Amino acid sequence: MKTFSLISEMVKAVQKEHKAGHSIGFVPTMGALHEGHLSLMEESKKANDITVCSIFVNPIQFNNKKDLEKYPRNLKEDLRLLQSAGCDYVFIPENEEVYPEGTPRLDINFGSLDKVMEGKFRPGHFKGVAIIVKKLFEIITPDHAYFGKKDYQQLLIIRHLVSVLQLPVQIHASPTFREPDGLAMSSRNLRLTIGEREMASLIYQTLCKVKEKAGHLPVKELRRWAIKKISSNPAFTVEYFEIVDKNDLHILENWKEKENALACTAVFLGDVRLIDNMELFS
Ligand code: PAJ
Repeated sequence: MKTFSLISEMVKAVQKEHKAGHSIGFVPTMGALHEGHLSLMEESKKANDITVCSIFVNPIQFNNKKDLEKYPRNLKEDLRLLQSAGCDYVFIPENEEVYPEGTPRLDINFGSLDKVMEGKFRPGHFKGVAIIVKKLFEIITPDHAYFGKKDYQQLLIIRHLVSVLQLPVQIHASPTFREPDGLAMSSRNLRLTIGEREMASLIYQTLCKVKEKAGHLPVKELRRWAIKKISSNPAFTVEYFEIVDKNDLHILENWKEKENALACTAVFLGDVRLIDNMELFS
């Protein structure tokens, strides 16, 4: 496994692979790697000759300075995990290498995709994500790139970016990898206290109950039920809980388009913000 921190060196390496006729799979991450990230690596390894992973805690996608400061960083362990997962190249640039002239401009209209849920509560977040993913795609020039459904809205934003800019990369989505108690794996889980960690599966349990009740209660009532259920534990603060169409994220009014129904939530557990989602009819 080779690691690169300079764009020019990374570009040279991938150009050489393309010239040799090798397909390139790419897994962008912000590090503090867990099995969810590694499941994306596995998908890439199955379908490509070469797999590249990036580790870059992208400052411009953090709308909250404290969240950026407290974001877990664990490079040594990340490199160990990537090595044992069979990663070929790791790209680990510094901020100055990625943004030598400050934040680049990007004028893409994401329509309603960045106005709801994460977009509404984290202003500027998806612009920051789109800028870095576009930049990483330009550097790595992957044939295939792998993203998790855990960040479902991000996945739609990236599909939109690729479609609008006609980027020559195929986007693949992997299911959410969970802890044995159902908590969606996330780098931020490392910041939970032992007590909070024990309670955290309430989010998954509620999503499972919502799936059971879907179609039996009116959508609005079910949403209210879910918010009440999570809030019944005072350690949790629900930022949003929405039942949306998984294609364009519009809020469902009834169960007529139920095969597209996706429940999405963001909650604070203490000061850690966790997100999760579940398809309700698949
Ligand atoms: P990060 O949160 O590190 O996630 C990297 C990739 O891993 C994303 O595609 C995310 O959806 C996926 N992932 C995270 N948890 C997962 C889980 N439990 N199961 C399956 N996949 C999971 O998402 C980002 O970084 C950044 O926004 C990034 C795209 C790298 C741009 O900075």
